[in-house]
Amino acid sequence: MEQKRYGHFDDQHREYVITDPQTPWPWINYLGNEDFFSLISNTAGGYSFYKDAKFRRITRYRYNNVPMDNGGRYFYIKDGDTVWNPGWKPCKTPLDFYECRHGMSYTRITGRKNGVEASVLFFVPLKKWCEVQKLTLKNESNEVKQLKLFSFEEWCLWNAATDMENFQRNFSTGEVEIEGSTIYHKTEYRERRNHYAFYHVNTEIQGFDTDRETFVGLYNEFADPQAVIEGKPRNSHAHGWSPIASHYIEVTLNPGESKDFIFLLGYIENEQDEKFSAPQVINKKKAHALIAELDTTEKVDRAFDVLCAYWDTLLNIYKVKSGNDKLDRMVNIWNQYQCMVTFNFSRSASFFESGVGRGMGFRDSNQDLVGFVHQIPPRARQRIIDIASTQFPDGGCYHQYQPLTKRGNNDIGGGFNDDPCWLIFGTVAYIKETGDFTILDEMVPFDNQPGTEVTLFEHLKISMDHVIKNLGPHMLPLIGRADWNDCLNLNCFSWDPNESFQTTENVSEGTKAESLMIAGLFVVTGKDYVALCQKIGKTDEAARMQQAVDAMIDAVKKHGWDGEWYLRAYDFYGRKIGSNECDEAKIFIESQGWCTMAEIGAEDGMVAKSLDSCKKYLECEHGMVLNNPAFTKYIYEYGEISSYPEGYKENAGIFCHNNPWVIIGECLAGRGNDAWSHYAKILPSYVEEKYQTLHKVEPYVNCQMVAGKDAYKPGEGKNSWLTGTAAWMWYTVSEFILGIKPDYDGIRIDPCLPETAGDYTVQRKFREADYDITIHPNGSQKGVKSITLDGQPVTGTVIPYTPGHHTVEVTM
Ligand code: GLC
Ligand code: GLC
Repeated sequence: MEQKRYGHFDDQHREYVITDPQTPWPWINYLGNEDFFSLISNTAGGYSFYKDAKFRRITRYRYNNVPMDNGGRYFYIKDGDTVWNPGWKPCKTPLDFYECRHGMSYTRITGRKNGVEASVLFFVPLKKWCEVQKLTLKNESNEVKQLKLFSFEEWCLWNAATDMENFQRNFSTGEVEIEGSTIYHKTEYRERRNHYAFYHVNTEIQGFDTDRETFVGLYNEFADPQAVIEGKPRNSHAHGWSPIASHYIEVTLNPGESKDFIFLLGYIENEQDEKFSAPQVINKKKAHALIAELDTTEKVDRAFDVLCAYWDTLLNIYKVKSGNDKLDRMVNIWNQYQCMVTFNFSRSASFFESGVGRGMGFRDSNQDLVGFVHQIPPRARQRIIDIASTQFPDGGCYHQYQPLTKRGNNDIGGGFNDDPCWLIFGTVAYIKETGDFTILDEMVPFDNQPGTEVTLFEHLKISMDHVIKNLGPHMLPLIGRADWNDCLNLNCFSWDPNESFQTTENVSEGTKAESLMIAGLFVVTGKDYVALCQKIGKTDEAARMQQAVDAMIDAVKKHGWDGEWYLRAYDFYGRKIGSNECDEAKIFIESQGWCTMAEIGAEDGMVAKSLDSCKKYLECEHGMVLNNPAFTKYIYEYGEISSYPEGYKENAGIFCHNNPWVIIGECLAGRGNDAWSHYAKILPSYVEEKYQTLHKVEPYVNCQMVAGKDAYKPGEGKNSWLTGTAAWMWYTVSEFILGIKPDYDGIRIDPCLPETAGDYTVQRKFREADYDITIHPNGSQKGVKSITLDGQPVTGTVIPYTPGHHTVEVTM
């Protein structure tokens, strides 16, 4: 069935163009690349923060509200009796034209009403702590227009968690200052904070408001603020309650005339002894300086050009030309973009993650790394050190850490036994991309405690050892609180709805639940670790670990095979999970993915059988579900996984994150047709074409979960943006499907394609080199026949690295 469409891709501008504001769900974008960040929906909803969405929230947002997506940066235009917003919301006055263009770290929203066009460009300039909102008003009518313009932002009282709950205090602490066209938010600045925020416009204002109740009216809404409806600002000065910032500007536009207004939402930190310029008066020097850098159209346009050039550079590192637009736009633009967003935000702030819950995940951040390491290796390096610093001396680690402090998060603690392996995964990816082995000698502490430093290599070693030292009765890895699947809680045993499945371990003594997912992960990362040891001359260590890897392979073959697929786990009592013997959830995807990536038992046909079983039991129209059949009841011994209704999340949802594991398994097995068909099912550009309404969430990025075949509405997406799916999709397509794989000594070329694939080229910058690689598949799914490098034949599949520009021809 043809579904309604709300927008389309504009590949030339690297934009997604939304043409109807009433998308099935707010379709958002992210602004900011380093310290200052904003979320912005297609109707200008969302919020801003500095570094940490919980502890430094700058503007307020209301989650899961009525109406949906309530709060943002709103411009109200009063033209006679008509009040409208360029992004349609919150007034929802029908517009003559609406368009939202989400681009690379910027969003442009344009509305037209009664002969006036209002276009707003939102972005965070590189290296600056502010959001620019460049509003262009244009009179397209034949009459002179007298417009009244009101801006609007609502301040969050910094800590986004207490902002939502501690009203007995909050309603008395709010403080602002007004100076010219700038409104300053300085709540708590008098005491322990050394930061404030401001909202500025580069023109004279004819009025303002800073008190929400006065501006909106206690019984009004954002859709009809009293001051706007009456066309009269109150010049209110907030004392407590809810401080806001609203400028009032009277604008006269002749026919054909247009005017720019630069609004700036900024964040400033002062030194302790420079906080005040006079008693109670904040020192505004830095704010003035920041404003001066961005107070004209020319300066703002230049900053925008710099941002665009930055994205050009990032997206020029890996470029494919395949003749298939749907593939090219994901590889060249959106998949890489989403990877960068997940790098910056981990799982903290989206329209599904409130920003007050999670910090940076140990496993999540390591996986995210493979999505952006080619673009910004120095930041990947720093990220690895930060992550490793939250490890414990026994190789275990905090499951999460806070980005502002970089400290491990005590609330959640550790005990997720897959976590340590991911450090090897991330580090190896970094070294292969950069050739920088010196990272292994970096001194890295435990639990951030100075004086405990050992080399990063030592951290990798104890990561491997952590698995080996925690084996269960079948010599398979103990699962701990959970492995990659946070919801398979085999030691939890909870009947108390107020307990967290993630942190409750009601039984820890004598724990023996084991994980086949960790077993596969251990073999995959173990092989990488062995190769790394060999590479750096640690042959004894390589041999020691090879033995452990071999033992693990044996254990999986002996105790982890169910006949047609790999088991998922053994529970606390040593009973099989994910077996034909089980009533429900007979087969799980995670162990199929990891054990096929590890190629365990390939020689005995296990890999092929496992992959076939994925097709037979897990695959459906929208991708592969996590387990099958779904759990229909809560199982005390399994925990959260069985808490979800059928077809959702970890209970037989299409958890997109793990589909690529099976796809890589397919690629290693040389089954290009199958790999491609799995891949295309969850590739946003394919979904975009068919299912905009059903899919519901943004069609330009992957979401964490699409409702599975057992769900009420199969194909409906949820939890878009912040998901390991981004990095895994990238890793899969760039290295295994298109087959351009960084290695220690060069680039390995080993594509795995559908038979229908035509010739394609990949331009790949790699260290100090530039490769133009042309692949001629000749109808073959796998297997490189010959390679030439600058016209000379190459033996093997690795093009040796040498700086400079090179042309590579590959025949399959
Ligand atoms: C979420 C978590 C990730 C976990 C996955 C499966 O995406 O961020 O760490 O592996 O769910 O439970
Ligand atoms: C819930 C979610 C899972 C996520 C976890 C993080 O269990 O189902 O996806 O990883 O919370 O705490």
